[in-house]
This record gives sequence, C-alpha cells and structure tokens, in this order.
Amino acid sequence: MSGRGTKKERSRPSEPKDPSDLGANSGPAGHIPVLLSSVLEALAPKNGEVYVDGTFGAGGYSRAILDTADCQLIAIDRDPQAATTAASFNKEYGDRFSFIPGRFGDLQELIKAHGLNHVDGVVLDVGVSSMQIDDPARGFSFAQDGPLDMRMSCRGLSAADVVNQYSEADIARIIAALGEERRARVIARAIISERENKPFTTTLQLADLVTSVIGRRPGAAKHPATRTFQALRIYVNRELEELARGLAAIEQILLPGGRSVIVSFHSLEDRIVKQFFANRAIPKSRPSRHLPESVEDDGFRPSLALLNKRTITPTREEQQQNPRARSSRLRAAVRLDAPAFAFSLDEVKIPRTPDPEL
Ligand SMILES: C[S@@+](CC[C@H](N)C(=O)[O-])C[C@H]1O[C@@H](n2cnc3c(N)ncnc32)[C@H](O)[C@@H]1O
Repeated sequence: MSGRGTKKERSRPSEPKDPSDLGANSGPAGHIPVLLSSVLEALAPKNGEVYVDGTFGAGGYSRAILDTADCQLIAIDRDPQAATTAASFNKEYGDRFSFIPGRFGDLQELIKAHGLNHVDGVVLDVGVSSMQIDDPARGFSFAQDGPLDMRMSCRGLSAADVVNQYSEADIARIIAALGEERRARVIARAIISERENKPFTTTLQLADLVTSVIGRRPGAAKHPATRTFQALRIYVNRELEELARGLAAIEQILLPGGRSVIVSFHSLEDRIVKQFFANRAIPKSRPSRHLPESVEDDGFRPSLALLNKRTITPTREEQQQNPRARSSRLRAAVRLDAPAFAFSLDEVKIPRTPDPEL
C-alpha cells in the first residue's frame, strides 16, 4: 500500500471549474499552461488521492489539479524562483499543497524523504517556463541580452562555461546532437576563434556570432541561433537524461491505476517518452529489442497501458492564443500492477554528448 501521508485539515476546492478556465494566465509573468484541459483529462484527479507536479513552474497545472479535486499535491521544481510561487500556494491551499525543491529525475528519493512511497498520478511539463525565457538575467534568450547562463537550478555548469572551455569537436557535437543544427561545425569553429579574442559572457554575443556565421534566411520564422541555444540549454540542464530518469522514477512510484502524463516540446524529448512507454506497454508478440533482460521468460507483463495511441497536440485556437504551445505534445499512460522494469539510460535514445566538465 502507498505510504501516503495522513491528510490533515484541507482547504477544499472551490466550485468545480471548466478546465478551459483553469490557470489561463494565472502564473507569474503571465505563463499560460499548455494543453491544460488535456492534462486534466488524462490525469483525472480524484478526491483523496495524491498527485505530483514534477515541473511546478508558475503552478498552472498544480492550481488546476487542486481546484479540480479535493486531493493532495506535491510540487517539485529545480528552479529556486519557483519556491516563491510555491509559498503563495501554501497560503492558499494549506496542507493540501507541498513544495519540494529538486529535480524530477530524483523523484523517488524526493517523495520518500517526504514520507511517501507511492502516489496516484504524476505530471511533467518538461522544458523551460515563460518566466525563465523572458527574464534576460537567466540567460536563456537570444532576443534579449543577459549573462550566458541557462541554468534552471542556478547551479553548476553554465552555457558560458561550455562555449568558453570545451573543445571545438565537443561544442560541435553538442550543437549537432541536441540542436539538430546542420551547421554545427561551422558554428563551433567560429566560437573557438571568437573566444580567443574575447570570452563569451552574454547571450547576444553568442546570438550575434551565430547569425553572422550562418546568416538569416529571408522570411525564416526562426532566429538563426535557435538551435544553438536549444542545444546548450538541453546540455547544461541535462534535460534528456532528467526526462529518462524521471520516467523510470514515475514507473516505480505510481500505484496500480495511477497515471503518468508527460508534455514535451520537441522530437528529442518525445522520442524518449514514446520509447519508454512502448517498451513497457507493447504486447509480447511485438517485443522490442530494447526490452530489459530482466523480463521473465514466461511472458511479457506490461507495466503500463497507453491512454492514447497518438500524441495529443494543441488545437489551432490554443496555438493562436499561446504560440509557445505550438510544438507541445502529450503522452499519457496508466500504471498496471506488474513489477516495474529494470531501467538503464541506454534503453532510450539520448544522443551522445561529452560528459559535463565541471
Ligand atoms: C514548462 S515549465 C512548467 C510550467 C507549469 N506546468 C505551469 O503550468 O506553470 C517547466 C518547469 O519545470 C522546471 N524543470 C525543468 N526540468 C526540471 C527537472 N529536471 N526537475 C525539476 N524541475 C524541472 C523548470 O524549472 C520550469 O519551472
């Protein structure tokens, strides 16, 4: 049985709301939660259950879950600034809400330290928040000048460390693998030559260099530095490894019948979610060569059932209202009662990049 905590006095959800009304523009700096009604539909929060929002951000999903059912919600985020938003949730929702600073890759350990072994549902909305992108001081944006940072947790290796210290080959590999940038080698060469004159300190210094090297295609919607910035951000935050570890942790902590809902933003992420779910949900007649060897001979026992065969994507209307939702897609699965599979990072397709140098 789960190690759910005792439920103390709770603030009750107010009137049940139409999911489309929940959370829109509710977060700091107007962060609009993506695919919110689909997330709620897939998670299906119920009274008395315990949920985890592994990417609290501005709290859009957390608020919607807490307002939908008289449940408990544990929010996690690695960004120290999320704690400020969480403090206001504590006031509003009392004991129904708790915040744990940390990474969702460590989900199992984090909830254990919180006195729980299992929960009824987990949602992840991976990637960066609008608050992070829009704050020049965080160094994620090629559109506004700021320190070349990109660390969600504000700790460890920064994007400037990578471009100033890594070899040309390693920088090219990161930009090619995580940005899927065809001109990665040319960009890496230019970075090495620029940093000999002047080390990189700001986002615009890098954005301008990339633009000068690969040019701006007339009529192109994307900034030339989009892929380079994406690659550095994913690398610095180890986003793909975190996602894979998070999925494995979710499989361990979900109760049978519990739901896992994952919103991702690009193909590198979605491929990992798809592969992870497929390895645990496919029928034995279609075994995957990636299946862990620990599966018993007497039959493949799926640990997950997919809620949707295809990804759920935003409607045209949502894309118009929130352009940042454009590339989002949702996959969801229900935990079955078979044991969790053994997991190794090699099981999912994470492009190879150099080990972080610190
Ligand atoms: C897209 S935002 C989430 C927005 C949220 N769903 C909302 O409605 O406000 C992603 C958040 O996840 C956090 N995050 C990303 N990767 C994380 C990780 N591995 N562990 C914990 N938090 C992470 C980021 O700091 C950011 O605040």
